[in-house]
Amino acid sequence: MKLFPFAIVALLSLPAGASQVEVLHWWTSGGEAKAVAELKSEWAALGNQWNDFAIQGGGGKSAMTVLKSRALAANPPEAAHLKGYELKEWAGLGFLRDLTPMAEHLGWYARLPPMVRDTLSQNGALMAVPTGIHRVNWLWLNRKVFERLELTPPTDWNQFVAVAEQLKAQGVTPLAIGNEGWQLTVLFEAVALGEGGVDFYRKAFLEQDEATLTGPDMVRVLSRFHQLRAYVPKSFVGLKWHQATNQLETGEAAMQVMGDWVKGELSAGNYRPGEDVECLPSPGSAGLFSYNLDSIAMFKQRDPAQLQAQGELARLLMTPHFQQAFNRVKGSIPALVEPDMKRFDRCAIKSYQDFKAAEQSGTLLPSMAEGMATPTNTRQAIMDVLGNFFNDGRASAELTAHHLARAIRSAR
Ligand code: GAL
Repeated sequence: MKLFPFAIVALLSLPAGASQVEVLHWWTSGGEAKAVAELKSEWAALGNQWNDFAIQGGGGKSAMTVLKSRALAANPPEAAHLKGYELKEWAGLGFLRDLTPMAEHLGWYARLPPMVRDTLSQNGALMAVPTGIHRVNWLWLNRKVFERLELTPPTDWNQFVAVAEQLKAQGVTPLAIGNEGWQLTVLFEAVALGEGGVDFYRKAFLEQDEATLTGPDMVRVLSRFHQLRAYVPKSFVGLKWHQATNQLETGEAAMQVMGDWVKGELSAGNYRPGEDVECLPSPGSAGLFSYNLDSIAMFKQRDPAQLQAQGELARLLMTPHFQQAFNRVKGSIPALVEPDMKRFDRCAIKSYQDFKAAEQSGTLLPSMAEGMATPTNTRQAIMDVLGNFFNDGRASAELTAHHLARAIRSAR
């Protein structure tokens, strides 16, 4: 029997809408889980079955470890939350389904902003579909605490330290953050952007220029980063990002420097972003947009039913309706061109406006902390050096700059 009729029979034999997918992700905090619930309900509304493969751990390190073991056992899920350089690396190893035929057939390329298409492509092939664009360089501050203490929101790192000293004197934790490498690297990235600027950031982390990595600007950025040790919570060790956000919500802490998944957490806790908790560019980074593009990739499968289910999931993720419903809850903005932002909160509208402005002015930057700017090994090496530096009260900024350069060189 020729293959063709068999394939058609196999496809047609599925009861309509009986697609099922197993999806690996790490969206498990309050806000993240609500966003995944949006996706699950839209998938179920199509009559499909969602097998949740959720791995706890903000930033996704644990999820990637589990995914490696499943893939090496030749038993990958149909889909996984893979993004940035990690996505490109998995694609380069041949594990992922090339979605280019679907994209061309369905006209997706006209609907993706250039950054989104580039970030999801490997050698010109589309290797994932986007769920949303997060902005990383945000400062979140508890408005009630600032009003009660008559404090002015900081717009540069000198002002941040001055405000932090005032908060500390009043018994309020200035900076909500935990000691995980990825959280500290998000903070470092904000200091690098605010104290060093765009050119410094590009030279150091996109070009990995030796002179920049070991030069006086890097020493100054590292010194400012180390100075922030004085402002972290007593519960700093082991504090998860969403627990830091909870401290911000209650006013136990006054500020958090973190991506806008914080906004999803605030909304899930009925705190109004832009009202109860103000959203501002991280100090010194106004006009810059450090992006973290979330995306879902499809692992190669042979079973026609699995291929059909993957196609249906990819088409769902690319619909304006899903992009609205998911991103309003997740805290990110839609990853399609010209989204309707009317039903988004004030912070999301500001993020979208700043995204468009940054696209025009060339200040749209891949987040190094969120795996958008360097290969995974390089990012891990940077996080290790920065984590050790921040957690050591006696560490030297000059020596650390050389450790950073050496770690980046050795990760190549
Ligand atoms: C990022 C991810 C975001 C957010 C954050 C905290 O890596 O891209 O969607 O969930 O981790 O877990």
